[in-house]
Amino acid sequence: MKVYVPGDSAAKSVGADDVAAAIASEAALRGLDVEIIRNGTRGMIWLEPLVEVDRGAGREAFGPVTVADVPGLLDGTLDGLGLTDDLEWMKRQTRLTFARCGVIDPLSLADYEAHGGLAGLRRAAAMTGAEIVEEVTASGLRGRGGAGFPTGIKWKTVLEADAPQKYIVCNADEGDSGTFADRMIMEGDPFTLIEGMAIAALGVGARKGYVYLRSEYPDAIAVMTKAVDLARKAGVLGADLLGSGRTFDMEIRVGAGAYVCGEETSLLNSLEGKRGVVRAKPPLPALEGFLGRPTVVNNVISLATVPVIFEKGAQAYADFGLGRSRGTATLQIAGNVKRGGLFETAFGISLGDVVNDIGGGTATGRPVKAVQVGGPLGAYMPVSKFDTPMGYEEFDQNGGLIGHAGLVVFDDQADMLQMARFAMEFCAIESCGKCTPCRIGAVRGVETIDRIAAGDAGAQELLTDLCETMKDGSLCALGGFTPFPVMSALTQFPDDFATKQEAAE
Ligand code: NAI
Ligand code: SF4
Repeated sequence: MKVYVPGDSAAKSVGADDVAAAIASEAALRGLDVEIIRNGTRGMIWLEPLVEVDRGAGREAFGPVTVADVPGLLDGTLDGLGLTDDLEWMKRQTRLTFARCGVIDPLSLADYEAHGGLAGLRRAAAMTGAEIVEEVTASGLRGRGGAGFPTGIKWKTVLEADAPQKYIVCNADEGDSGTFADRMIMEGDPFTLIEGMAIAALGVGARKGYVYLRSEYPDAIAVMTKAVDLARKAGVLGADLLGSGRTFDMEIRVGAGAYVCGEETSLLNSLEGKRGVVRAKPPLPALEGFLGRPTVVNNVISLATVPVIFEKGAQAYADFGLGRSRGTATLQIAGNVKRGGLFETAFGISLGDVVNDIGGGTATGRPVKAVQVGGPLGAYMPVSKFDTPMGYEEFDQNGGLIGHAGLVVFDDQADMLQMARFAMEFCAIESCGKCTPCRIGAVRGVETIDRIAAGDAGAQELLTDLCETMKDGSLCALGGFTPFPVMSALTQFPDDFATKQEAAE
């Protein structure tokens, strides 16, 4: 009998390690032949620890499982949820990037290959750099870190740059509130990121890569470090990569925990051992990046999506999606929501369907008031905008941004003035200090919102002016995008600002 207990940190945070230990000791006590596999999570976080039992007729799901449930689990008397693949949450998804996550043993290369792993890299190894870049361009893949910049164009810039050394840098400094897709894939299917980076390297002619991984993710650091070592030993990395005659190797580097180090130039400074301060662009990292050399800086999910594009073909990927948003969105549903987790589906699903249908509405059972999409710099979307389809342009037209596709749900008890204040305060704390609109603007922003809270109606106009200045004058997205949550709170939920004024009067 095989038993799968996620080793993912979300599952561990609610007792998966204790459950795994209890299964091992109970099985030993009974003399049962049980193989315990510490897989990644299936993404149904509200059911964690979600244990799967395979007695030969498919994987049956149980969850959330406690230590007390273990005897029943082994007896076969514990009520299950049915076969994992038959659960609505799983059936309704289009899992391309996350196809293997939760299914395989994350650190088994054999398991990885048995589930389609390395097929993309083998195909890419037989292609020229230009053909590889063309394939990524044809897939329509856009940067999943937040900006949605076409990956193929970025790679082409690096391919065409003339330099003795080029680099692939994976941005794994996942700092957005409510996001966990990067962590989940690194813990659940690390070889897919390694394979994606190797394909990128073959495409642009890089021989060295780095994963810049945040220190707050110790499990992901451990899994990625082991996976890189295993890949190197198996010849997936190193000289003569998979017998292609080409060389690519990579390292895991750990960041020290600053949100702004998720901004690519600040990340590069940190990677070079300098203070994580934002650099002015141009020059683009694609031309002058790590150590001044042409560098592909891509988010984890962008790179982890590359293998499936090469395995199934660019067209197969581009067939999914809406408008210019091709392929799948890896939605991370969080906050005050009944069913939180990772849901991968083609772009085009409406925001309302994600929150109410997939997420099941609020965990408190109260009406939804707002959803912040795209991290702490994303706009608060009111229920009146729930028809908005998940798509880069569609969100932009509705005053929002998809960002890294994290959604944080709030019920009707949320005070949007306080949320606007939080956004400004966050910006003030995390600002790298390089430019004035952000460094000073965010501090003044907190004060101005406090004035509104104290009943100073004139301060609303000042806040609007300040947001315009921050938007137009900031050097990077931290200062430039903070106005999104602030102004969306002010314009979409005016009552929360007016009430304070009346209360003061
Ligand atoms: P950007 O629009 O300046 O650039 C997007 C990417 O395209 C960059 O990598 C840039 O170097 C590249 N690029 C632009 N023109 C190019 C060209 N001609 N050739 C090659 N490459 C080119 O956006 P930025 O500042 O990199 O990112 C902002 C986004 O980051 C926001 O949308 C925000 O949602 C997101 N973000 C994500 C976070 C996370 O935790 N994942 C945290 C904070 C922000
Ligand atoms: Fe630094 Fe803020 Fe300016 Fe970005 S906007 S460069 S974080 S001071």
